[in-house]
Amino acid sequence: MAVVRGKRIEVLYSASTIAARNLELAKEIGERDYRDLLVISVLKGSFIFSADLVRAMHDAGLEPDVEFIMLSTYGAGTEAGEVKILRDIDSDVAGRDVLLVDDILESGKTLTFARDLIMQRSAKSVGLCVLLDKSMRRQAATPLQADFVGFECPDHFVVGYGMDVGHAFRELPFVGVVAGDA
Ligand code: IMP
Ligand code: MG
Repeated sequence: MAVVRGKRIEVLYSASTIAARNLELAKEIGERDYRDLLVISVLKGSFIFSADLVRAMHDAGLEPDVEFIMLSTYGAGTEAGEVKILRDIDSDVAGRDVLLVDDILESGKTLTFARDLIMQRSAKSVGLCVLLDKSMRRQAATPLQADFVGFECPDHFVVGYGMDVGHAFRELPFVGVVAGDA
């Protein structure tokens, strides 16, 4: 339990648990026959996970290119809403193996949009890697499955390790749940 901004934060996945899982994920990614791999970090929520994952990939002997896309999903996790590109990648993805990295797969709306966008640009393949999977929240319209999942996430709003409430709590080195006032 940590106290941040006067709130008690219950630790769900500790920094060391996440670090160990990142290395396993990197090895799983390395077992695929990816060539000329381009990792695309889906900002903002995945900035810490992506930073750690690509270094774990280096430790696993991989040599990916790394890019960034910034998406905003209005009404994420709900039926309504749409996805907007706030900042696009610079690279040409045609003919390349691409791995999209995001913090959480919830309704599936964000990553369905991102995957379709990259496929439309003639990528050879698009893999999905997420730290957390809230599979119970998936919606029928976007029944997506990630290729690589760090942890199955309980149905709570989580913060830390890049994930926020109104831009707060991103700096926490662990994933936690806001449990109330301290
Ligand atoms: P989806 O489009 O419903 O799959 O939404 C996934 C996006 O919603 C993630 O990339 C996160 O940015 C955000 N999100 C979903 N659940 C949480 C949460 O518990 N904490 C913080 N952000 C979340
Ligand atoms: Mg996000």
